[in-house]
Amino acid sequence: MDELLQGLRAAAEPTRLRVLALCAHAELTVSELVRILGQSQPRVSRHLKLMVEAGLLERFQEGNWARYRLAGIGTPTLSDKNADRHAAVARFAEAVIDLLPADDRTLGRDLDRLQKIKAERDRAAQDYFARNAKRWDRIRALHVDEKEVNQALVRVFGADRGARSLGRFLDVGTGTGRILELLAPRAEAAVGVDSSSAMLSIARAAIDRAHLNHCQVRQGDMYQLPFADGAFDSVSVHMVLHYADEPARVLEEAARVLAPGGRLVVIDFEAHNLAELRAEHQHRWAGFEQEDVREWMRDVGFQVHPVETLEGGPLTVCLWVGERPAEANENALAAG
Ligand SMILES: C[S@@+](CC[C@H](N)C(=O)[O-])C[C@H]1O[C@@H](n2cnc3c(N)ncnc32)[C@H](O)[C@@H]1O
Repeated sequence: MDELLQGLRAAAEPTRLRVLALCAHAELTVSELVRILGQSQPRVSRHLKLMVEAGLLERFQEGNWARYRLAGIGTPTLSDKNADRHAAVARFAEAVIDLLPADDRTLGRDLDRLQKIKAERDRAAQDYFARNAKRWDRIRALHVDEKEVNQALVRVFGADRGARSLGRFLDVGTGTGRILELLAPRAEAAVGVDSSSAMLSIARAAIDRAHLNHCQVRQGDMYQLPFADGAFDSVSVHMVLHYADEPARVLEEAARVLAPGGRLVVIDFEAHNLAELRAEHQHRWAGFEQEDVREWMRDVGFQVHPVETLEGGPLTVCLWVGERPAEANENALAAG
């Protein structure tokens, strides 16, 4: 009752209803909301604070920016001590949004301004992409066609079994969000994590364009993922491990956020001797020995599949697949 009343009070104000409507379409920063609403920053911030406290919105820090998002949309997986309370308020927020009149002129104008902001974001992301595309293309040219890697990924995740077959999906080191775009359509909810906000802006624009509303990106560190234990059913780590000082710790963290029965897929290069990748592309590792990664995965409790390799070009791409044992098996293993 208390939560519902707090939610009702927080929504029962014209500006806050407009904010709810806007956040149903995008994650927004305070300054973007100030531009759309045409109100002062302190005023907008006050509204946002109240809405976050009531559980209608979630606030995420990304670099210097705080982003606001409708609570509960695509976020059943975030680490949250008050998950039940927030789920109830999130359902209430969705119900309010459904009741908003589609022909309201103020809301219509707000959404037009939102479209302009999205177009600007898209342009900024594309500029960054264009500046870096040559470097990325150079690496792509060294290995098998991306389409083949994509097909293998879909297969090893069992994503060809149909809609939602990946359950709750996490892509670690999501970069431009390519893997999210590929696999999110087969997931219940999907999240991409990356440490770079420039990369995240590209990924955010890409998932927006693809209308993947159940999908989001978050700034975070692969050694300390901002999620509860067992929050996901599927995790991918695609071309990220060779940047890790401590790859075994990345796999340990992936194991932590996977639910029993969940699946981890790591895609990376097999050990190679292309020194330029370290010198010019800041790779910490010149690929990996197949057995090293398998052993790191076994050490953190995975049942490890045979490694699949994709050859074509100087670099061989490996797919390491591990399963977290179902709970009963885990208990048996722990009991020795
Ligand atoms: C080569 S890109 C791969 C991107 C994406 N997985 C793909 O295959 O298209 C590696 C990504 O790892 C991210 N990264 C590096 N260190 C990280 C860390 N400690 N935590 C999270 N992401 C990290 C980088 O920002 C970059 O976006």
